[in-house]
Amino acid sequence: MISDTLFERARQVMVGGVSAGGRYNPSLKKPLLLSHADGCYMYDVDGNTWIDYHSCSGATLLGFNHPAIREALYKAIEKGFFINFESEYHAELCELISRMVPSAEKVRFANSGTEATLAAIRIARGYTGKKRIIKFEGHFHGMHEFVFYNWHNRLGTMAENKEISKVWDSGGMVDETDELITIIPYNDPEILEKTIIRYKDDLAAVICEPVMYNAGCIEPKPGYLEFLRKVTKEHGVVLIFDEVLSGFRMHPGGAQGYYGVTPDLTTLGKVVGCGMTIAAIVGKTEVMNALNPIGKVVVSGTYTGSLLSVMGAIAALKIINNPKVFEDLNTIGTYFYDNINALMQKYAIKGIVQGLCSRFGLYFGLEEKTNDYRVAAGAFDVEASQLFLKKVLDKHMYFHDFGRGITPMHSGITTAHTRPIIDESLQRIEDVFKEMKKEMK
Ligand SMILES: Cc1ncc(COP(=O)(O)O)c(C=O)c1O
Repeated sequence: MISDTLFERARQVMVGGVSAGGRYNPSLKKPLLLSHADGCYMYDVDGNTWIDYHSCSGATLLGFNHPAIREALYKAIEKGFFINFESEYHAELCELISRMVPSAEKVRFANSGTEATLAAIRIARGYTGKKRIIKFEGHFHGMHEFVFYNWHNRLGTMAENKEISKVWDSGGMVDETDELITIIPYNDPEILEKTIIRYKDDLAAVICEPVMYNAGCIEPKPGYLEFLRKVTKEHGVVLIFDEVLSGFRMHPGGAQGYYGVTPDLTTLGKVVGCGMTIAAIVGKTEVMNALNPIGKVVVSGTYTGSLLSVMGAIAALKIINNPKVFEDLNTIGTYFYDNINALMQKYAIKGIVQGLCSRFGLYFGLEEKTNDYRVAAGAFDVEASQLFLKKVLDKHMYFHDFGRGITPMHSGITTAHTRPIIDESLQRIEDVFKEMKKEMK
């Protein structure tokens, strides 16, 4: 197969044959090597067509190769494609974001979600003059040392005061950053308040994924985000919503627009450019003014706000700034998730789909919906999940697969997933469940 030859070639010069570790697919035992992609279809180098449920880790909400974005990119190329200066387009994009995202009084660009959360934490530290951050177990905020803890490798140990022991998500982490972070469970107001009070003199920020999409899809309990907002405000702690994955996902204003809770700072990535290399830190003017050139916190970069990405992002957000987009995504998403749940019941496969609008998690082993991460992780049947992920590949459907995590990865639909494509997918999933049922006996 052409993919085997290309993979072998890549392995000679690329570690593991991949340019991003997460692109190695444990079930395929190689990455998926694509020739091109369009809408919700991906075309591999061996001539196969795939239905996409990965959507580039959630970036391509409008599907691959959207004509409006393509047109904007051509326009940017004519203007000189890479210009490391400001332009009228930069302010236009910030105005758009500001109209859409409630906390976005001011905007600063970054190149990736990881860079954005790193910057947001630095702003919070610069603004408060304090060091510690609180992070929640199971939340993911990118791969820098200040946050790369307790995501989905294993549960930490819970102490009597309900703090959770630190679990590094990568080799190469250092003990020194352990001292700057406290990990607690999400969705428990009492633990939250007690922990904030315990550390308030040293606490710069609480960072969270308002919807835990990086653990599949776990929503905040009713009232929890409001309480989080209230208690951080009371104690002078900066509240950061990491909306790199939840931003523009279920509402034009992201999770903060959807739940009606406004943080001090927000990080945006992925859908903000629908595939362009762009991210943003946005927030209240008072806090954002900690940034240079007004304040002393330095956040800058050669490629930050590159013209190509900015113009692509404007085209994407102009489409996304429309509640109808999310109504339609919600309708098709709910139809998809309900029908997968019905198929699970039909074939007596223990599990449930939890989804909110355009993203979802397949919780094999879980029988009732939950917003408790530890309940989801405790019930998760990793063997069934791995079997499913392997078998859908045979049917040429691509789901996010990072291997043996303790909760599912997030999967997603895009505006290119029409009802006939969803019905075709449900047929293939039914075939997978039939086979799983036989093999799991
Ligand atoms: C919530 C969240 N924060 C941060 C990141 C890191 O973003 P990036 O991969 O662009 O560095 C991700 C990526 O999946 C994410 O989901």
